Amino acid sequence: MASYDVIVIGSGPGGYVCAIRCAQLGLRTACVEGRDALGGTCLNVGCIPSKALLHATGMLHEAEENFGKMGVKTSKPSVDWKAMLGYKQDTIGANTKGIEFLFKKNGVEWLKGWASIPEAGKVKVGEAVHEAGDIVIATGSEASSLPGVDIDEKVVVTSTGALELPKIPKRMAVIGAGVIGLELGSVYNRLGTEVTVVEFLNAVTPGMDGEIQKTFQRTLKRQGLAFVMGAAVQKVEATKTRARLTYRLRKDESEHVLDADAVLVATGRTPFTAGLGLDAIGIETAAPGQVRTDGHGRTGVEGIWAIGDATDGPMLAHKAEDEGMAVAECIAGQAGHVNYDVIPSVIYTHPEVASVGQTEEQLKEAGRSFKVGKFPFMGNGRAKANFAADGFVKLLADSETDRILGAHIIGPMAGDLIHEICVAMEFGAAAEDVARTCHAHPTFSEAVREAALACGDGPIHV
Ligand code: FAD
Ligand code: NAI
Repeated sequence: MASYDVIVIGSGPGGYVCAIRCAQLGLRTACVEGRDALGGTCLNVGCIPSKALLHATGMLHEAEENFGKMGVKTSKPSVDWKAMLGYKQDTIGANTKGIEFLFKKNGVEWLKGWASIPEAGKVKVGEAVHEAGDIVIATGSEASSLPGVDIDEKVVVTSTGALELPKIPKRMAVIGAGVIGLELGSVYNRLGTEVTVVEFLNAVTPGMDGEIQKTFQRTLKRQGLAFVMGAAVQKVEATKTRARLTYRLRKDESEHVLDADAVLVATGRTPFTAGLGLDAIGIETAAPGQVRTDGHGRTGVEGIWAIGDATDGPMLAHKAEDEGMAVAECIAGQAGHVNYDVIPSVIYTHPEVASVGQTEEQLKEAGRSFKVGKFPFMGNGRAKANFAADGFVKLLADSETDRILGAHIIGPMAGDLIHEICVAMEFGAAAEDVARTCHAHPTFSEAVREAALACGDGPIHV
């Protein structure tokens, strides 16, 4: 029986970051992973492969749409799907091997296999039982199932199957206009697939700022994605090569069918904690399988912690990473902390969508008095030069103190631009602080400054 200060179960962004930080803080650390590669959902079947395909198809789109306008002459680009999947696979490999290297560098031991927790202080991997002073549950999540829909990962797929379809489908139905549906729907739309998104609600990306939702859906429609909104999917019937989806429109209860060569089910994800033996050791879960913590990673059982998708909060890689670091610091006797008010979220479509803090709807509901500073990318020189002038920056600031309460961006590099506001919010900055900060010209980030100016005496370039 080996003995460790800490055993982390799961090597996704939560688990591997936690394990590395524990080792850096002088704790003897092991990380259990049942997959053949480290990195979890994010590196193997999530963030990294989806972003590789978004990048490749984004380049294709850029070549088709804009090269000619800039005087760049090429023959019509075409797609070698096998090679594109190869590029995606190489990208995964480079990243997962990178985690193996970091484990070796920091002295984290990889225990290969599936773990359970027979009792506090013990982790079972295969037949071996290891002792640990502290145990961190970082077992992530899996795609949620949908009644009436059987997933075969060939024709009816989750995001995992959608990342490796053997051929580009002619027609794809996407169930759910959330982040996965719109990112992967965009990938296939750019590859020439007729994509129809069927969504239960009347707006895309629930929880986002309403104005962004409307602009985002309009933009995707213009790019060729079709939407059926307010529709409850009843069933999907599939053969080996195609599927028929039946949905009911909520407004009039009328039933319709949609035929497709592939159906992507993207209706959310569920914590993956079955098999750990949580009930037997008295760890509380909220349905379905989500480990309850005190908001700082502690479960109700002394010495057992939980982070990332397996717990409450947004299912995002960087949220899992931050929790991993904070819990490692707490185990080492330091004051680890996550600021849940400043967790950005990004959708990597074209244009990108990014947000942090409160939405206009949330502020109204809370009865807050706030001002809105908006600036369109049409007024940004760099965006116009790059044919990327769709979208806007929207800043929300307290009416009295001018303190920034939220930011919502749809436009070029939104996922990078948002971090200026994250830092500002961490420092409790006012919109005027951002407005008075010199921003290099010509950059997209000038649009953020102009939105901050719009919270005060007004922007210059509109
Ligand atoms: P995971 O990454 O799920 O890792 C958990 C690991 O634990 C897995 O490797 C699993 O095999 C292992 N495990 C589970 N149980 C056991 C056990 N009993 N024993 C041993 N090992 C076990 N988030 C973003 O922030 N940005 C994105 O761009 C983004 N894109 C995404 C795209 C897709 C298609 C998907 C599906 C998700 C995406 N996400 C993205 C979400 C992101 O992947 C997750 O939020 C993140 O991976 C959660 O990290 P985690 O460490 O909690 O768990
Ligand atoms: P999601 O929660 O983002 O969206 C699910 C959508 O499906 C919602 O719009 C919901 O209303 C709809 N829906 C639910 N049931 C339905 C039904 N029966 N019929 C029709 N529509 C239905 O979930 P998604 O897209 O599966 O993503 C899962 C998680 O992965 C998210 O929490 C997200 O944070 C994370 N992720 C993050 C990414 C990023 O940060 N860029 C990229 C991909 C995933």
